Amino acid sequence: MERTLIIVKPDGVQRGLVGPILSRLEGRGLKLVGLKFLLVPRALAEQHYAIHRDKPFYGELVDFITSAPVALAALEGPGAISVVRSAIGSTNPANADPGTIRGDFALDVLHNLIHASDGPDTAQAELALWFKPDELISWPRDADKWIAVQE
Ligand code: RTP
Ligand code: MG
Repeated sequence: MERTLIIVKPDGVQRGLVGPILSRLEGRGLKLVGLKFLLVPRALAEQHYAIHRDKPFYGELVDFITSAPVALAALEGPGAISVVRSAIGSTNPANADPGTIRGDFALDVLHNLIHASDGPDTAQAELALWFKPDELISWPRDADKWIAVQE
């Protein structure tokens, strides 16, 4: 079982695509174990994108992710990290396959709707960066228990 982090970037929030994006990933069978909506502090954005500090697009990337609210989700499932990466598609949406989130909803490399952790180490580091331990909640997917809770 793996956990991974996704961030619906400001373009996804502005375009009302938080629901459709989460719906695709939940529909795939991935389980939500954390969910959050926030305006990203600049220092947090810089830490998240530290690996790209020397790239020419770093400045506009940090400007963009801090420009409007984002939605974060921690998702759990077998192979969650690579399953989500393949579901979101290539970094440049112009090259993303139809059927992927970027391939269906985006066209521009900066405004590519969604971030997802790209490996086990980054998933662990990013989940710890964006969520406090008690904001990640394990829960059983058990219909009987759900019904029992409602009674
Ligand atoms: P992400 O980190 O957002 O999930 O995206 P990724 O792994 O597919 O791509 P990455 O190489 O980590 O790049 C991070 C974000 O930087 C922007 N980017 N711009 N102008 C460019 O050539 C360029 N390359 C990357 C994208 O918004 C990308 O998601
Ligand atoms: Mg990346």
